[in-house]
Amino acid sequence: MSATTPPPMPVDETTAKRKDAHLDLCATEEVAPIENATLFGQMFLVHCAMPELAFSELDLSTPLFGKRLKAPLLVTGMTGGTERAMQVNRDVAQVAEEFGVAFGVGSQRAMAERPELAGTFGVRDVAPNTVLIGNIGLVQAVRLGVDGVMRLKEGIGADAMAVHLNPGQELTQPEGDRDFRGGYAIVGELVKRLGAERVLVKETGCGIAPEVARRLVDVGVRAIDVSGLGGTSWVRVEQLRAEGVAREVGAQFSGWGIPTAAAVASVRRAVGPGVTLIAAGGMRTGLDVAKAIALGADVGGMALPLFRAQQEGGVPKVREAMATVLTALKQALALTGCRTPQELRHRPRVISGELKDWLAAL
Ligand SMILES: Cc1cc2nc3c(=O)[nH]c(=O)nc-3n(C[C@H](O)[C@H](O)[C@H](O)COP(=O)(O)O)c2cc1C
Repeated sequence: MSATTPPPMPVDETTAKRKDAHLDLCATEEVAPIENATLFGQMFLVHCAMPELAFSELDLSTPLFGKRLKAPLLVTGMTGGTERAMQVNRDVAQVAEEFGVAFGVGSQRAMAERPELAGTFGVRDVAPNTVLIGNIGLVQAVRLGVDGVMRLKEGIGADAMAVHLNPGQELTQPEGDRDFRGGYAIVGELVKRLGAERVLVKETGCGIAPEVARRLVDVGVRAIDVSGLGGTSWVRVEQLRAEGVAREVGAQFSGWGIPTAAAVASVRRAVGPGVTLIAAGGMRTGLDVAKAIALGADVGGMALPLFRAQQEGGVPKVREAMATVLTALKQALALTGCRTPQELRHRPRVISGELKDWLAAL
């Protein structure tokens, strides 16, 4: 990053500290409320007793942001900005490189405020070939402008930049942003300058509705991560840090959002085939990933389980968690008679209960 063009943001000493507080909560607390469901539990793939294929011929490779993944999985952006965050990034990115899946860093706001923190987001030395995705919040993107966001992307050698949407979290955080205007405009500008194949718009656990997805596509977006309800709730994380009114209102909204399965299927229906769709938010198994792909996702995304694995046992535990997910995904392909993830789209499925209701309404 050039020393002559500092990002136009005030230095905020609290951003990095808040990040470590978030990690503490995500490591140990009930940040994914059990009563929140992705609704993948209400979708069933149909067993094929005679798959007529060899496990060894399954091909999970999937294109993403100009490269090819060995398997359709993204470790969605989590952290950066502190020593502890750096270790998380490096351990998980190393495993992403080994398995040929994509990796995102967490919000680079701390880096925009204090460029000397860039190293805590830097993983290119351990993940030279990985599809690497930078990250900034929508409100920060408005403040930084296109040049500032581009500097963040270039500062870590990312293949694409994720802009995250988190109004639920911001409203629960007493010091959070309250002005969400200008979002589509900045996203449209980013797409123009970086190219549509270099921009990802993602939620963070409340989901993206078809109407929002359509408007994003109208301003040029071609990659969306729905990050829906059913996993980590950022409203809950902030609620656990809050006091008084914010704590009470946060409790009321800890189940707010569009279940991930409903978001994926309805967004795919709304935007058609030309948009790369990532399904994250409460994805916990390879079978979840298979179901998401059957419903229209290109790639599954996961954050909390891999963070917790890293906290529990560093690289070996992350490796084990990743191997479990990808083995189960392959097993789901084999047991539905699919050689590729894409074939899942055409396999029979059963959709029941609330998921059926959501899909009828959206
Ligand atoms: C510890 C942790 C930190 C996160 N930090 C960010 C972040 O900085 N930027 C972002 O876009 N999403 C962030 N997320 C959200 C995830 O990228 C993703 O949208 C969603 O949480 C995935 O759901 P899961 O955690 O249930 O797998 C974070 C998630 C976790 C668990």
